[in-house]
Amino acid sequence: MASIKRIGIITSGGDCGGLNAVIKGVAAEAAAQGAEAVVIPNGYAGLYNLVDFEEVVVLDAKRAGRIDASRAGSEAGHSRVKIKKIEDPAKYDRIKNGLKKFGIDALAISGGDDTGSVVVDLAAQGIPCVHIPKTMDLDLQPYSVGGDSAINKIAECARDLKTTGMSHNRVLVLEVFGRYVGHTAFRGGVAAEADCILIPEIPVDFDIVYEHVKKTFFARVLESDVRAGTYSIVVAEGIRNANGEMLYDESAGVDAFGHKKLAGAGKYIRQQLEKRLKADPASKDFMQKSGMFVPGVYVIPEVREVAPGHLVRSGSSSAYDVNFGFKAGAAAVLLLLAGKTGNTVVGVDGKKVHYIPTSEAIKRREVDLAEVALFESLGACFGRSPQKYEFELLETRGTIERRL
Ligand code: F6P
Repeated sequence: MASIKRIGIITSGGDCGGLNAVIKGVAAEAAAQGAEAVVIPNGYAGLYNLVDFEEVVVLDAKRAGRIDASRAGSEAGHSRVKIKKIEDPAKYDRIKNGLKKFGIDALAISGGDDTGSVVVDLAAQGIPCVHIPKTMDLDLQPYSVGGDSAINKIAECARDLKTTGMSHNRVLVLEVFGRYVGHTAFRGGVAAEADCILIPEIPVDFDIVYEHVKKTFFARVLESDVRAGTYSIVVAEGIRNANGEMLYDESAGVDAFGHKKLAGAGKYIRQQLEKRLKADPASKDFMQKSGMFVPGVYVIPEVREVAPGHLVRSGSSSAYDVNFGFKAGAAAVLLLLAGKTGNTVVGVDGKKVHYIPTSEAIKRREVDLAEVALFESLGACFGRSPQKYEFELLETRGTIERRL
């Protein structure tokens, strides 16, 4: 394999925390190895159009120094483009010509499952590239940069909502991104001590959620000396009902990768709870006992939904993601120099740089329901009858895998 002197950096899919650390990690490690890194702007759209560019930005120490690793988002920009789907029979030649024009020998590409599938595709086309796992959804096999930042933001939103929820004695439903899995809703909800966490892996039984609301929220308010309380629900956007059907608003359309845009889970939950609150005489009784009942005004407790949307992946990166991002970016360079094209960085553990084939890394990882049962035993509702936590005791020596 020819020596690698110039590495193109691509970030693709949804942006998130830690990506700027990835970029800086690639740039600094490339320099340390006697190579250099350049930005290919705006994801695979930029890769496809590279041949038409007049110049690329070289990430030397001065330019990279202007990037703040702790800011979320990506200095390299993003797009959602699947190269295979581009309606241009000469697309791979066009990409190769762009790389040749700028003397780019290899690519360090950070993204999620769709991005990774393009890494597999490009590697098969003979373009040297490695994949750095990135997605706030945490649905890849290895840890992906952005997950921890999103969890922290979700936890902050859910915690903060409790102050307004308490002030009005409202049930508050926080709908968060996560696509078809519930990792970030789960971990963020646990961190905020949410009463109820609903994730796509568990079809929701709304009668069970309603009973939990009554048992927890009604008692909380009635036992409070100032008659104040709230009930918090964190819901992942991709949840399903008891028939396994996804609960999203069809009118939202599809994104550029062709995935349905998910929205509306929070609204659906509010409607389900309101329906039950209206039909149940216990809710009027609760309103009267709590001193909130006002005929024609406050007849049942209020339920509101909030969707922070892109805010959970914006702003600042967590310290964990900055650490992971730097290491993963540097590791990508080491993999490229070692000719390990078509692979995904898993992590750096002391002197060990772990990687797996990208085709394996992008297989969807779902929330482990065995662990959900542990949190059910601690009192949280997951929209199903609580399951018994079945556990094994294992004595563990040496390195243990760290993954949320
Ligand atoms: O895949 C990351 C993600 O944040 C999902 O959780 C969410 O469904 C989607 O991106 C939103 O994408 P966009 O920014 O294109 O609206």
